[in-house]
Amino acid sequence: MCAPQRTPLHSRRSFRTPLRSREYSPRALLNNWLHILRQSCTAQFVVATRHQVAPLDATDYCWLGISVSHQLLLLQAQLGVRRRQGGMRLLLWAAAAWLAVGAVAGGGEQPLSRIAVERTVLAVDDAAHVKASPLVLGLQGENSEWVDVEFFHPNPSSDDWIGVFSPANFSDAICEPENSRQYPPVLCTAPIKYQFANFNNDGYNKTGKGHLKLQMINQREDFSFALFSGGLMKPKLIAVSNKVAFANPKAPVYPRLAQGKSWNEMTVTWTSGYDITEAVPFVEWGEKGGSRFLAPAGTLTFDRNSMCGAPARTVGWRHPGYIHTSYLKDLWPDSPYTYRLGHRLMNGTRIWSKSYSFKASPYPGQDSLQRVIIFGDMGKAEADGSNEFNDFQPGALNTTYQITRDIENIDMVVHIGDICYANGYLSQWDQFTAQIEPIASKVPYMIGSGNHERDWPGTGSFYGNQDSGGECGVPAQTVFYTPAENRAKFWYATDYGMFRFCIAHTEEDWRPGTEQYKFIEQCLSSVDRQKQPWLIFLAHRVLGYSSCAYYESEGTFEEPMGREGLQELWQKYKVDLAFYGHVHSYERTCPVYQSQCIVDASDHYSGPFQATTHVVVGGAGATLSEFTTSKIQWSHFTDFDHGFVKLTAFNHSSLLFEYKKSRNGNVYDNFTISRDYRDILACSVDNCPRTTLAT
Ligand SMILES: [Fe+2]
Repeated sequence: MCAPQRTPLHSRRSFRTPLRSREYSPRALLNNWLHILRQSCTAQFVVATRHQVAPLDATDYCWLGISVSHQLLLLQAQLGVRRRQGGMRLLLWAAAAWLAVGAVAGGGEQPLSRIAVERTVLAVDDAAHVKASPLVLGLQGENSEWVDVEFFHPNPSSDDWIGVFSPANFSDAICEPENSRQYPPVLCTAPIKYQFANFNNDGYNKTGKGHLKLQMINQREDFSFALFSGGLMKPKLIAVSNKVAFANPKAPVYPRLAQGKSWNEMTVTWTSGYDITEAVPFVEWGEKGGSRFLAPAGTLTFDRNSMCGAPARTVGWRHPGYIHTSYLKDLWPDSPYTYRLGHRLMNGTRIWSKSYSFKASPYPGQDSLQRVIIFGDMGKAEADGSNEFNDFQPGALNTTYQITRDIENIDMVVHIGDICYANGYLSQWDQFTAQIEPIASKVPYMIGSGNHERDWPGTGSFYGNQDSGGECGVPAQTVFYTPAENRAKFWYATDYGMFRFCIAHTEEDWRPGTEQYKFIEQCLSSVDRQKQPWLIFLAHRVLGYSSCAYYESEGTFEEPMGREGLQELWQKYKVDLAFYGHVHSYERTCPVYQSQCIVDASDHYSGPFQATTHVVVGGAGATLSEFTTSKIQWSHFTDFDHGFVKLTAFNHSSLLFEYKKSRNGNVYDNFTISRDYRDILACSVDNCPRTTLAT
C-alpha cells in the first residue's frame, strides 16, 4: 500500500468512527458515512499540511472508500425506491462512483470485515433450504475440492448471501455478551468466505433459486453453508445446509520450506489438526532414489489470548491448528530430495501427506546458476470467483500462477511482508498457505513482516496503527519459519549461494542505536564479497526511494526516517540492490545516493560499485498504488501493474534483473550487473581513500 506516514507510537491520532455504534436506518447510515467521509478527507488534508500529525493510513482511507461506496450504492437503491428523488439519487451515484474510484486507486478492505456478524438475527424460514454436496471431500487424499451449493429462498433479494462456516456448528461458538444486561449475539464468528446469492444466478432475484460452486480447502473442521438476507450489515439467518467434511480433516497439509540457520539445513513447516498428545509429527525424507530418514518435528500453536485485539480476538478468531516444523540437516548442496509429512497416532497408525520434492541450497559462495523471486504484498484470492475476495488482492492468483508455472526455473522466493492480509480473520492464513503450496512446498519461501502482520497499538510496533487486525505478528511468526534469532522480531540474514540477503523489519525501530540497526550493519558487513558478491537489502516499507503519490505529497519519497541512518550503511557496504513492498506497484531507480543518480548505469551496470539501485516491488497482488505525475530524476522505470522480480546470478560477476508482469509472465524491465571482485573492493562515492597528500 502506498501508505501515508504513520507517526510512530504516541502521536497517532485516530479519525475512525466506530461503524457499529451508530444507527442503521438508511438516513442515519448515510449521515454516518458522510461524516466518516468528511473525516477521511480532513485526514488527507492534514496529511498534506502537517507532517507531524499522523493521519489515516491509506489502508484506512481505502477501507472507508470501499465501505462508503458499497453502502451508498445500497442506500441509493433503497432511497431511490422510497423517495423517487432524482437529484438525491444522482448525488449518491456520483459520490459512490467517486469513492469507488478512490478505493480502487488506493487499496482494499478485508472482505470479511464488511459483515456485521454480531448483528445477526434469526429469521429461519422453513420454506427455504440450502443443500451442499458431496458430503465427504478429499476421498482421493486431496486437500482442496469443489462443493456444489444449491439453495432456495421464497423471498429473495439482491442482498442475500451465502456464508461458509467452519466448524459447521457455528452456533456452538461461545458468544459472550459485553455486559450482564445484554443477551449474547446469535453469531460471534465470521464465516471463512462468502458469496452473494445472485452471483452467477441471473434469475435468483425472481425465482429465489440459486447454485454456487465453491472451492473448499482442508482447514481441520467441517463446513456448513448458511443463507442470509438483509445484506452484510443486517444479516438475517434464513437457512443452514447439511454438513460436509474432508475425509481426514486433521490431515497434514500445506508444507512450506524455508532456509534454516545454516546453509545445509532446510526447514519444513506444515499445519495439521493433530495436537502432540494425539500424534507424533515427523518428516520422512531423503535424497531422491536414496535411503529414507525420519526427522522429528516441533509443534507450535497459539490461542485467542495471544491475539492483541479485535477482530483477531473476537469474530475473526479461528483456531490455527498445530504448526509443525522439522529441520532437515546436513544436506548435500544442490542435491534433489523428496519428503512427506507424517503423524504417528498413539495406536501406531501412521498418517501421511502426499510426497513432495526440493533441491538443497548451494554452498555459500558456490559458483552456479541461482535464481530468486522477490515481491511484496501479494495476499490471497479465491479460485471460485468470489469477487468480494478477488477485489481485495486482484493480482494474487496471477502472481501465484506465474511463479508456479516457472517453478522449475526458480530456486527461492522472498515475500517481503503483507503476506495474506488476514487482518485478524485467522481462517485466511490456511487459505493463503493452500494457495502458495505449489511454490512453498518446492522452494524455500522466505517471508518478511509488514504492517498487516504486525502493527497494533500498545504492542511495541513502530507504527501504532491497527493494520494487523489484532494479530500483532503472532500468526505470521508461527505459521512461517524464519531463521531469525527471535522470530517475533523478524529480522534475519540468509545466504543462497552467491547471494547474501539482509531482511529488515520496518514495523520495529531500525534507527541508529537500536538492536535492529546493529543487526543490519552486522549482516551487511559480515559477508565475504569475493564469495558472495550479490548483497541484497530487503524491507517491507520503503526505506529508500519511491515516487508513490503519497510519499511525494509528504515530500519524503520514502518512509520518514528511512534513509537517514541507513543510506550510509548501504553505501559503505556496497549494497547492490534494495527491495521494498508496501507501495503496490513497481519502480526501479538509477544507482542513487542522497537522491542523486551517481552513475548512468540503468540498463547495464559494470565496473566499480558506485551506489545502490532501489526497487519497489509491492505489486504482487494488492490493489495498485498511484505514482506521482511529477518527473522524478532518480526514478528510472515505473509500472502501474501487478508483477514481481526475478534475479538470476549466472556466476560471481554477472547478475540479471528482470521485472515480470503477473498477467502474462513477460519481462517488462530488466538490467544486468557485471562486476569483478576488485570492482567491489574499489572505493565508492563517499569512502574513497585519499590517494595523494594534496587531496
Ligand atoms: Fe504494507
